[in-house]
Amino acid sequence: MRFEGRAVIVTGGSKGIGGGCSRLFCAEGGLVAILARGVEAGEALAAELNSQGPGRAVFIRCDVSQPEQLLQAIEQTVQEFGRLDCIINNAGWHPPATSIDDTSVEELRGLLDLNYVSTFAGSKFAVPHLRKTKGTIVNIASMVAILGQDMAAGYCGTKAAQIGLTKALAVELGRDGVRVNAILPGNIDTPLMRDWAATLDDPESALQRVANLQLSKRMGTAEEIARIALFLATDDSAFVTGQAIEAEGGASLDY
Ligand SMILES: NC(=O)c1ccc[n+]([C@@H]2O[C@H](COP(=O)([O-])OP(=O)(O)OC[C@H]3O[C@@H](n4cnc5c(N)ncnc54)[C@H](OP(=O)(O)O)[C@@H]3O)[C@@H](O)[C@H]2O)c1
Repeated sequence: MRFEGRAVIVTGGSKGIGGGCSRLFCAEGGLVAILARGVEAGEALAAELNSQGPGRAVFIRCDVSQPEQLLQAIEQTVQEFGRLDCIINNAGWHPPATSIDDTSVEELRGLLDLNYVSTFAGSKFAVPHLRKTKGTIVNIASMVAILGQDMAAGYCGTKAAQIGLTKALAVELGRDGVRVNAILPGNIDTPLMRDWAATLDDPESALQRVANLQLSKRMGTAEEIARIALFLATDDSAFVTGQAIEAEGGASLDY
């Protein structure tokens, strides 16, 4: 019950890494607002979590690339739960492999809105509530923000921007007792990863290739990332702020 009676917003909380966070925070007694676009998956997960407890969950339909929807969803969460202790800015997308030649500036702007501006806006709208609880912000960036990745210039840039924001906000909000950290996942087995594999000729061998990149020869799980988010959202990490925590199963070691 490490999040008992406390409230968290998980953007993109219906599936993948965000789904793992919704599940774990609810299992630890938390009040969880699941934000996503797809109503069916969001409502289904909220119903499942409410039937299991011990925490409580609500689904709020929200496209995080639309700041006014994000503001409304955050205010609705605070009305519902009476408080906000953490926002996990997780919703994001990795486009299929594309060269810079084939990426239009408009496409880049759209991805920036989804992956980065939403992180800024989610933090901005949550901060007045987080100041009251001395809460935390957890941003889900990516290992490729610092490693780079072939045919993903736009994506890597949006993820690196989240890290800069994390460090600057940690400084600014440290005065108010609000901590801000980022998690940089490596290869995690989620619907996004499987959607990417499905764009290739042989999805199963592509997934095996990705699994083999880790020292353990497997991908990470959403729950493993959620456990780091829980650590960052609780006093277990009271002395940790402005950090970009690499969770990549050793994939970047042993060249
Ligand atoms: N999987 C990996 O290996 C990996 C590695 C590094 C970083 N990441 C990062 O981790 C985050 C989550 O990735 P994932 O693999 O868990 O993705 P996923 O399996 O595709 O899940 C994405 C979640 O975000 C929601 N979402 C997508 N666009 C949204 C929007 N515009 N507004 C609100 N919700 C939206 C989706 O629901 P709806 O579609 O219904 O809205 C879903 O709940 C992303 O930021 C990604 O860049 C993932």
